[in-house]
Amino acid sequence: MKVIVVENYQQIGQLGAQIIAGVIKNNPNAVLGLATGTSPIGIYQNLVEMCQKGEISFANVKTVNLDEYVGLDGTHPQSYRYFMNDNLFNHVDIDKANTFVPNGVAENLQEECTRYTTLVNNSVQDIQLLGIGSNGHIAFNEPGTPFESTTHMVNLTENTIKDNSRLFDDISQVPTKALTMGIANIMNAKHILIVANGKNKAQAVYNMVKGQVNTTCPASVLQNHPDVTVIVDKDAASLL
Ligand code: GLP
Repeated sequence: MKVIVVENYQQIGQLGAQIIAGVIKNNPNAVLGLATGTSPIGIYQNLVEMCQKGEISFANVKTVNLDEYVGLDGTHPQSYRYFMNDNLFNHVDIDKANTFVPNGVAENLQEECTRYTTLVNNSVQDIQLLGIGSNGHIAFNEPGTPFESTTHMVNLTENTIKDNSRLFDDISQVPTKALTMGIANIMNAKHILIVANGKNKAQAVYNMVKGQVNTTCPASVLQNHPDVTVIVDKDAASLL
């Protein structure tokens, strides 16, 4: 794992975007694995700026997102499809038909999971961007999730519901279930870029980088991946 400690959130955004832009410049048909949450927003802002200046193009890029809440369709402002449109896709030259997010309102959620795993197996991520939950989750793979898991439906932990409730009017509106790429689908990416900022991520970052590799901290599995870049600010790195 290559760990880069930067001063602040702004620098995570700049450096993270440079790495992703490098992947696109190297391969204009790249498959980007993308993430939601507050952590990657700065990266998306920088990528939008680079695209608007003509430095990169998403015209032939394909994207696969990590996860989606069950019960929220893409028009719901808290859905991850809405988030991606709002923070990235609406502002760059991407063909939305080449952007994929699990469908949290599919009639048969089990079939949707199988479909999504086939999709990511056929479109292996050249780079997978990740955030980390304060309990060490990646995507919505909560502690205890087997490392060999593929796309599946999860019951969100109380901790995650509480963390994510800041984006909803009321905690009772946070969905209790989600569809998520599994840990095996994430580990299949050629390169992984994981970003974190703030003191409340320090323990999870420590467990990911220096802790034992086990399912108690799902992100610790990344120690087994051959090509991982971790970008953290000083606060998130404070226990390293
Ligand atoms: C959610 C997402 C994760 C994300 C995590 C942390 O649970 N499913 O992919 O990494 O939140 O979010 P934030 O970056 O807002 O702290």
